[in-house]
Amino acid sequence: MDVLLLLLFMSFSILPFSVSSAADSGDAFIGVNIGPDVSNMPSPKDIVALLKAQSIQHIRLFDANQALLLALAKTGISVTISVPNDQLLGIGQSNATAANWVNRNVIAHVPATNITSIAVGSEVLTTLPNAAPVLVSALNFIHSALVAANLDQQIKVSSPYSSSIIVNSFPPSEAKFNRTWNQQVTVPLLKFLQSTGSYLMLNVYPYYDYMQSDGHIPLDYALFRPLPPNKEAVDSNTLLHYTNVFDAVVDAAYFAMSDLNFTNIPIVVTETGWPSKGDSTEPDATVDNANTYNSNLIKHVLNNTGTPKHPGIAVSTYIYELYNEDLRSGPESEKNWGLFYANGEPVYTLHLTGAGTLFTNDTTNQTFCVTKSNDEPKMLQAALDWACGPGKVDCSPLLQGQPCYEPNNVVAHAAYAFNAYYQKMAKSAGTCDFKGVATITTTDPSHGSCIFPGSNGKNGTRINDTLLAPSNSSSSGCFSQYYYKGGSFTSSVILVVLFFSALVI
Ligand SMILES: *[C@@H]1O[C@H](CO)[C@@H](O)[C@H](O)[C@H]1NC(C)=O
Ligand SMILES: *[C@@H]1O[C@H](CO)[C@@H](O)[C@H](O)[C@H]1NC(C)=O
Ligand SMILES: *[C@@H]1O[C@H](CO)[C@@H](O)[C@H](O)[C@H]1NC(C)=O
Ligand SMILES: *[C@@H]1O[C@H](CO)[C@@H](O)[C@H](O)[C@H]1NC(C)=O
Ligand SMILES: *[C@@H]1O[C@H](CO)[C@@H](O)[C@H](O)[C@H]1NC(C)=O
Ligand SMILES: *[C@@H]1O[C@H](CO)[C@@H](O)[C@H](O)[C@H]1NC(C)=O
Ligand SMILES: *[C@@H]1O[C@H](CO)[C@@H](O)[C@H](O)[C@H]1NC(C)=O
Ligand SMILES: *[C@@H]1O[C@H](CO)[C@@H](O)[C@H](O)[C@H]1NC(C)=O
Ligand SMILES: *[C@@H]1O[C@H](CO)[C@@H](O)[C@H](O)[C@H]1NC(C)=O
Ligand SMILES: *[C@@H]1O[C@H](CO)[C@@H](O)[C@H](O)[C@H]1NC(C)=O
Repeated sequence: MDVLLLLLFMSFSILPFSVSSAADSGDAFIGVNIGPDVSNMPSPKDIVALLKAQSIQHIRLFDANQALLLALAKTGISVTISVPNDQLLGIGQSNATAANWVNRNVIAHVPATNITSIAVGSEVLTTLPNAAPVLVSALNFIHSALVAANLDQQIKVSSPYSSSIIVNSFPPSEAKFNRTWNQQVTVPLLKFLQSTGSYLMLNVYPYYDYMQSDGHIPLDYALFRPLPPNKEAVDSNTLLHYTNVFDAVVDAAYFAMSDLNFTNIPIVVTETGWPSKGDSTEPDATVDNANTYNSNLIKHVLNNTGTPKHPGIAVSTYIYELYNEDLRSGPESEKNWGLFYANGEPVYTLHLTGAGTLFTNDTTNQTFCVTKSNDEPKMLQAALDWACGPGKVDCSPLLQGQPCYEPNNVVAHAAYAFNAYYQKMAKSAGTCDFKGVATITTTDPSHGSCIFPGSNGKNGTRINDTLLAPSNSSSSGCFSQYYYKGGSFTSSVILVVLFFSALVI
């Protein structure tokens, strides 16, 4: 690749674009889908409490659940409600049915509940093709009812497309919509979106693209991980280069729209995510991959990075999904797209430094310092002694009868002390090393009633930081009580102190 040429083309590609309507009100946001197929679905009140605790400001429902819409009143949370596919035929064939739907599910709730858009059907062309002929009528009827109520400016109407409706999606510049539907659905739909200032709703699943690619798509490329330059995908027509599947799919949609001469319709990604668990045929549905995908996605979207075709143009995105839906059928992964279990516990801890307050309470930015290897008890003991002594960590929870006494071994006790020191030092660089026997983890090591400093508690209760600060009594000298094996290292304490103060601080 001729780098100069590439740069030249990339700088040109930034110039002419004018998506200025609707969704593009500046900054991109991250929202979350709330799927209904959960056996012990939390109450609307609990759902709203979780959304608030996690600073989630945008949600999408797959229906228009009355109790949830009521519970969302006066929260300011912006809500996308949906016409479920099974109501689409009725609504698409009757203006009156559409008007009733809007009365019951929209007018009854606004302005208290901040309904900002309506998703009419879901992936209709691929999942319910027999309703396709009435899809655009349904959009028009719903929109007319909003116009009649003077709500059409604040509530946008669209219909989520599956990205599988885009054919030849790589290179993105050659992407087109499946022409089977162009005249009957896609062209009138895009006209509707354009004339009402709405946006294309697009579902983007790099997980499935990766799974179906027979190894052609590298996992790193699907997960937004850095790729060596020779592995980056370059669009040979535009010379734009792609560092992740998500951007390539969004750009394919832009190109497919411009193939039909629509160049000013923004895109909102209504679904994307990665499953944290799968069956034996889904080895890449893992907690680590789900965490990596969603963490990188959130950073990417909130950074207003845009895509190579339209850098800086907001692509707001809804993560699929808030809760694991244990009642869904299909492969194991279907039940495991959630960020949270139904009890509100996070499935994993997102790595989100710099993403503002989103998900901060339970899933963001929690890092802990723990022991790295278990086979160096002497090193661990010496480091433990240092942390509880000169390191001025409050090790009193490690005393007999206190919450972190069990398991009474040097590995567990050292983990507690290392972490307490690391948190006390505001997680600054170099404070989790202890001569190589400590390591940073995002997994909360708290267990039972032993809550590690820096943990919000498994139940989302923030513990009182003040109580974790080193107290006078514990830093006053008698740290030999934290010895796992009695005083066998007493004579080396002074040496150890010198040794580790040099290393750690
Ligand atoms: C975390 O949750 C608590 C209790 O639900 C809430 O008071 C607090 O505002 C939340 N913090 C953030 C940053 O959302
Ligand atoms: C409703 O949501 C929109 C979009 O997020 C936001 O701009 C607006 O301020 C919200 N309205 C209220 C009343 O909170
Ligand atoms: C549908 O109903 C709305 C009022 O809800 C009305 O303004 C519009 O003209 C009607 N459209 C058709 C095609 O009947
Ligand atoms: C386009 O859609 C039709 C109807 O669903 C389907 O039969 C066909 O396979 C699709 N074409 C491509 C290239 O996916
Ligand atoms: C798009 O516009 C070009 C130039 O005006 C025209 O040649 C082409 O037929 C149009 N394509 C469609 C699908 O309308
Ligand atoms: C954030 O955006 C800037 C350009 O605006 C870009 O240089 C940077 O790589 C982006 N960071 C991430 C994490 O996407
Ligand atoms: C994440 O942790 C770092 C280091 O402790 C801190 O500087 C940053 O403000 C935190 N970010 C959030 C969103 O809490
Ligand atoms: C939540 O955590 C706090 C602090 O660790 C604990 O006191 C409380 O009992 C817990 N509540 C539940 C319901 O587990
Ligand atoms: C934390 O504990 C200290 C000491 O017990 C107390 O003075 C303070 O009010 C507590 N803070 C909170 C937020 O509970
Ligand atoms: C802690 O120790 C310092 C110095 O030994 C002493 O001045 C201070 O009063 C002590 N504070 C408490 C709360 O005991």
